[in-house]
Amino acid sequence: MEAGAFYLLLLALTGISSTLSFYGDSITFQPAHKQRDGTYKVTFHHRQNGRSSCQDKPLHTCESEVCTSFVESSFLQTDQDDTGQGRWCQSEMHATAAVRKNQTSFSLNQSGCCWGSNVDGKTNWTSEAELDLGSRSDSHALNSCPLTTTVSSLRVPQNCFSQIHILAHDPDGDHVRCRFSSDAAAPANFTLDESKCVLSTKGEVDVGVHVFELMLEDFSRKNITLTYADGTSVFRVGSDMNSPPLCKVKLQFSMEILPPLSSCEHGRVQPMFLSKTPSHGDVLHATMGQKFKLYAQAKATEASINDFQVSGPQNMTKEFKAGEQGTAELILSWTPLHSDLYRIVPVCFTAETNQSQSDMRCVVVLVTQAALIQGTATVTCSPNKMTVALDKSSMPGIDVNFLQLIDSSCSLTSNGTHILGVMSFSTCGTKLLDKGDFLVFANEILSYELPSEVIIRRKAVKIDISCQFPKTVSISSYYNLQKSKYIFTESNFGSFGYTFEIYNDNNFTSKVEASNYPVEVMLLDTIYMGIQADSELPSVTLFVESCKATPNNNPENFLSYDLVKNGCLKDETVVVYPSNQKTYNFEVQAFKFSGNYEQVYITCSVILCEPGNPYSRCAQGCLSDPSRRRRRSLVKETFSHSITQGPFRFIGHADPIAAMDQNLAVVKKSPAMDVKPSVMTKGRPTAEVIVPSVLLEDTESSSGRWGIEEILSANISTLVFASAFFVSMAMLVAVVVYFTRKRNEEDCKVLLNSSYDN
Ligand SMILES: *[C@@H]1O[C@H](CO)[C@@H](O)[C@H](O)[C@H]1NC(C)=O
Ligand SMILES: *[C@@H]1O[C@H](CO)[C@@H](O)[C@H](O)[C@H]1NC(C)=O
Ligand SMILES: *[C@@H]1O[C@H](CO)[C@@H](O)[C@H](O)[C@H]1NC(C)=O
Ligand SMILES: *[C@@H]1O[C@H](CO)[C@@H](O)[C@H](O)[C@H]1NC(C)=O
Ligand SMILES: *[C@@H]1O[C@H](CO)[C@@H](O)[C@H](O)[C@H]1NC(C)=O
Ligand SMILES: *[C@@H]1O[C@H](CO)[C@@H](O)[C@H](O)[C@H]1NC(C)=O
Ligand SMILES: *[C@@H]1O[C@H](CO)[C@@H](O)[C@H](O)[C@H]1NC(C)=O
Ligand SMILES: *[C@@H]1O[C@H](CO)[C@@H](O)[C@H](O)[C@H]1NC(C)=O
Ligand SMILES: *[C@@H]1O[C@H](CO)[C@@H](O)[C@H](O)[C@H]1NC(C)=O
Repeated sequence: MEAGAFYLLLLALTGISSTLSFYGDSITFQPAHKQRDGTYKVTFHHRQNGRSSCQDKPLHTCESEVCTSFVESSFLQTDQDDTGQGRWCQSEMHATAAVRKNQTSFSLNQSGCCWGSNVDGKTNWTSEAELDLGSRSDSHALNSCPLTTTVSSLRVPQNCFSQIHILAHDPDGDHVRCRFSSDAAAPANFTLDESKCVLSTKGEVDVGVHVFELMLEDFSRKNITLTYADGTSVFRVGSDMNSPPLCKVKLQFSMEILPPLSSCEHGRVQPMFLSKTPSHGDVLHATMGQKFKLYAQAKATEASINDFQVSGPQNMTKEFKAGEQGTAELILSWTPLHSDLYRIVPVCFTAETNQSQSDMRCVVVLVTQAALIQGTATVTCSPNKMTVALDKSSMPGIDVNFLQLIDSSCSLTSNGTHILGVMSFSTCGTKLLDKGDFLVFANEILSYELPSEVIIRRKAVKIDISCQFPKTVSISSYYNLQKSKYIFTESNFGSFGYTFEIYNDNNFTSKVEASNYPVEVMLLDTIYMGIQADSELPSVTLFVESCKATPNNNPENFLSYDLVKNGCLKDETVVVYPSNQKTYNFEVQAFKFSGNYEQVYITCSVILCEPGNPYSRCAQGCLSDPSRRRRRSLVKETFSHSITQGPFRFIGHADPIAAMDQNLAVVKKSPAMDVKPSVMTKGRPTAEVIVPSVLLEDTESSSGRWGIEEILSANISTLVFASAFFVSMAMLVAVVVYFTRKRNEEDCKVLLNSSYDN
């Protein structure tokens, strides 16, 4: 705390918090700045959580020794439980203070007596925030506070609690420390990772509502000096957590631990976000005066998603759309006003069912004025690496000599027309993100500064590149591209891929080409299939633990037929061909499920092992009782992964009854898992196996996913950012968007000032 600091007291008027239950709040400062008259303009937004009613009255004041003016809005409800069950609501207000220039910090302090009923028995709460008003020597601007918020009601089934990622975004790139507030005890058995801001448990947690009070504080990573209006200054050592924070904001929220669920598998009872949804922590971009949209999609196959909970700005509208197969979509729309320019808005959301809730996702939305110019880049994905080619002509002035990947030791090259980069999924700083239904490998092309350089005349660049792979989607969607690869990543094995192909004959050299699809194969003829592992490790062994057939692409379908189980061959027509240790080639006689099933999919579960270890699953082969096998910690092997090939579709009979009558290869429909095909050869089969070409997934446009980190930071003249979304091994033309902005920080400040001073 600075000497001579005065505190602005925001007083909670009695009667508000006593009539309405408090379920938490968050305070977000807009970047503060000095105005022409020397006062500091400080604007903040305050969100408050409730259950059935959130229409609070305004309740703030600022003393005249501290502020020359103070304007506040009333609390307006921003979200509510649209199912009418009154499970949550949230409201937001904002206030703008002109703080006298003799102040060295600005502080908010508010308290109330009545937390909503909770199992921890807490009643009193205190809301707190404090911002240092010194000018930073690195940015020549005031510090920006960490941004955080939560949805109003976090709800987690007792047996499903693992982690909650709390938003802790710092616009200056400072280190943010999250800790339990010193004035409030942490609920029993909860722990907090202070540097990552992840809440987890260290034991069983009680069912019921728990309340949390966290303090987020930022510390510069580099040594800086803070200079105040009276000319005094203080020095802050980089990342020194013992020095006073540059800013602190308190986050209060409640979490209800619900009764245990039968299954915690995400996507079944508990909703899971799908890849359309931005990742947690993403920085999205909105343009003043234009409609910003955020899409999210979630899925719960065994429960019904009936709403999304949202923590967002006033006037953001929420649209809910129920989709097919347990999916639901959220569309948030918001048009930032002139007063929102340069505001950085935290937005969090969860998908809700009656029994549970998805993980909470949070992003920040940065409001800018700049118009976008588009350039082009092409990203190519293969099982172990991605390649990017930026078209130079679409980005005038771009300079390869000042570009690098996340890991600066990986450089980029250039030819006459393109800037080229190649990166492996396990090197160059490539990050792996789990997007629910897709696995995403992401890297960035960034510009860097030479430490000796005083004036920077280059364009600042940030280009997001990524490859995404479906985790469970049927390989059939790849047929158009003649590829069928699955990518997995585990720490011991790096990233590795599998191909699962259909071959023309038992030489396993000529694949069934996509152009020949649909391929006609006579029923009872032999199908040749091959699985190949593609790993960065020079020596690995591939083991096929199981292969089963199902009438659709859900390997868990109750109707299924085992070809291979626990490493043992189960169907007498299966023949495995000798090959190298990374390949599994086999043949099987074509068959069909009886009943009105036109298709067959084959799903194999595969494992990679380090060769030569007698205890590995690969070395053990066929096991009659695999439950007795224990995975040994020293054995290097992957978990088993499922890969699917299909569908094989049977056509050739105009009349399905005729096909049934002929009783050609048929698997009897039965609820039992192990059904035996009754194969009867009666004359020449007339049905055929065809492999149809299947739709390609839409290469969705990715507006709203641009990762911009540092628009407001110094030295940014042009910000280039792009994102390439890879779908189905295709080369996509990514859109590269970049800003043209004034170059130096003074210009940046002028922009900020002029935008506020009117
Ligand atoms: C700042 O100025 C105001 C008004 O002139 C005065 O009331 C207040 O005491 C001053 N505070 C400090 C720390 O000098
Ligand atoms: C805020 O209020 C709490 C309790 O009312 C008090 O303990 C704390 O010192 C106050 N903080 C400031 C900065 O005034
Ligand atoms: C809660 O606040 C009230 C009023 O400020 C005070 O009288 C009471 O002692 C506080 N209770 C606790 C447990 O701190
Ligand atoms: C904390 O977890 C331990 C271990 O699961 C359990 O024995 C204990 O009862 C828990 N404490 C509370 C307060 O729930
Ligand atoms: C930061 O300041 C400390 C203390 O003065 C000094 O020891 C350290 O070398 C400085 N670090 C850098 C990167 O300048
Ligand atoms: C929200 O919309 C209302 C009605 O259109 C408008 O009066 C109000 O100023 C808007 N508030 C904000 C914060 O955009
Ligand atoms: C969810 O709960 C509400 C209120 O109890 C009820 O009306 C609704 O039918 C429930 N929905 C489902 C899918 O169970
Ligand atoms: C540069 O590389 C790209 C991508 O490989 C290629 O398309 C382009 O033709 C090359 N340009 C020249 C001039 O070689
Ligand atoms: C398999 O390959 C061998 C030699 O490469 C060739 O002689 C043979 O005809 C091939 N068999 C089939 C079925 O294509």
